[in-house]
Amino acid sequence: MKNLRYDKGFRYALFAIAAGLSLTLTACGGGSAPEPTKVPPAVPAAEPTKVPAEVVERGKAIFNQYGCQACHAIQGFAEGAVGPALDNLYTDAQKIIASPEYKSSEGRATTVEEYIRESILNPNAFVVAQCPTGPCPKGVMIQNFKDQISDSDLEALIGYLMTLGR
Ligand code: HEC
Repeated sequence: MKNLRYDKGFRYALFAIAAGLSLTLTACGGGSAPEPTKVPPAVPAAEPTKVPAEVVERGKAIFNQYGCQACHAIQGFAEGAVGPALDNLYTDAQKIIASPEYKSSEGRATTVEEYIRESILNPNAFVVAQCPTGPCPKGVMIQNFKDQISDSDLEALIGYLMTLGR
């Protein structure tokens, strides 16, 4: 995120220098002045949901580091079959949040990000219905993960998981 902002600021600075130069040139040139340089539209805000590539890479490494792949499948990356496959996590999460089962559970998430965070930190708030080999078992998903992972690792992990299935 910081890099993006820096990058934008940097490009804007370049533009400002270029615009300044062309104004100076115009002023000295005399004669028929060309159309004044058009002010470009404001730089559009970065897509808030876009996860930078380096965060995705870090999130993947953390996924492996904490053994998530032992229980979860992600195509081409992980083959666990104890918990739900995570390939379509983003859309699955949206459906779950909207479901009556979720609404009557202890789950409190209203966004996909909150749902993923809750699934990791408070896995029993809502237990997913279907796992690869039958109904999902309660209490099998790591229970004390919040004591094991640092905040920054958790953010990268969630950032990566948010890219699955969208
Ligand atoms: C020992 C097996 C096991 C491990 C290890 C494990 N999980 Fe799970 N996970 C499960 C099971 C079983 C469920 C479904 C039951 C539930 O919702 O609690 C689940 C559910 C989830 C869900 C919700 C999925 C959905 O479709 O809504 C997410 C997200 C998740 N796990 C992420 C992780 C991450 C990230 C790690 C590593 C930090 C991890 N899990 C480690 C077994 C595991």
